Amino acid sequence: MKIGFFGAGKMAEGILTAVEDKRGVLMAEKASARAAEMRRKYGVGMTDDVKEVAKECDVIFLAVRPQDVEAVAAEVSPLLSKKQTVVSIVAGKTLAKLRKALGANVRLVRVMPNLALRAKAGMCAIAYGQGVPKAHKAEVERILGGAGATVVLEERHFDAVTALSGSGPAYFAYMEEAMAEGGVALGLKPAVARLLAEQTMYGTAKFLRESGMPLRPFIEGVCTKGGTTEAGMRKLDKPSFKKAVAATLKAAADRSRELA
Ligand SMILES: NC(=O)c1ccc[n+]([C@@H]2O[C@H](COP(=O)([O-])OP(=O)(O)OC[C@H]3O[C@@H](n4cnc5c(N)ncnc54)[C@H](OP(=O)(O)O)[C@@H]3O)[C@@H](O)[C@H]2O)c1
Repeated sequence: MKIGFFGAGKMAEGILTAVEDKRGVLMAEKASARAAEMRRKYGVGMTDDVKEVAKECDVIFLAVRPQDVEAVAAEVSPLLSKKQTVVSIVAGKTLAKLRKALGANVRLVRVMPNLALRAKAGMCAIAYGQGVPKAHKAEVERILGGAGATVVLEERHFDAVTALSGSGPAYFAYMEEAMAEGGVALGLKPAVARLLAEQTMYGTAKFLRESGMPLRPFIEGVCTKGGTTEAGMRKLDKPSFKKAVAATLKAAADRSRELA
């Protein structure tokens, strides 16, 4: 199965790192310096013409910016067939919009990734359009699974996904910033405070994922009675905190709906 890409930017590179045999991959990229860099780093086939990818590849990742989708679609839609699958990672482009732009002659998949894909720890939600062959679904899930975790969902959940895992890296980084600033206020050097906050965030997520432990018993377990964490939690565990988080996600989901 030949894998292709329309666009070879940051997110495309994150996905490419999870493709096992990169020599068979063909990427279309119009920025020549970027194309040279990708060829040198990964040994992939590069072209500046999206039509070549449309002619040669079976499963093609659409990884250009939202404003470039129409131009790409205009060039490739006459060439695509029902035997091919286009996997769009473009934020806000619904399956209906993609169908309109790319025509009825191709199978479609919509993916909402996040930028942790670039560290092989991404979160990708996948929504399948009509008629995507089993083999293509398996290939999409194998590739994206190699770049982190995947979940197959109905497209109606994509505004929530965009708000939670799509925008989430910024919210967790904000929490890390707040933790690091709190550490600096207690006299730590900024670099040390950041390391302590970041490794704690990373290690907690890793432990929770690997143990599968429910969150409440975990939190209560760390909060020893009369101990330091319990004293801290008394300040954090207020209805206002969870309300602020819920409002954050709702605002992002509303915006996602407006942009779609
Ligand atoms: N970054 C994120 O966290 C994130 C999260 C979720 C979804 N996404 C989605 O992922 C997509 C890609 O984002 P990105 O951050 O990887 O963007 P990016 O780094 O700007 O990559 C897009 C690449 O596509 C190239 N391109 C545009 N039109 C082309 C054409 N006609 N033929 C060949 N190449 C073309 C661009 O070249 P030029 O620069 O020369 O135009 C650029 O190198 C976006 O649609 C975004 O919505 C991103």
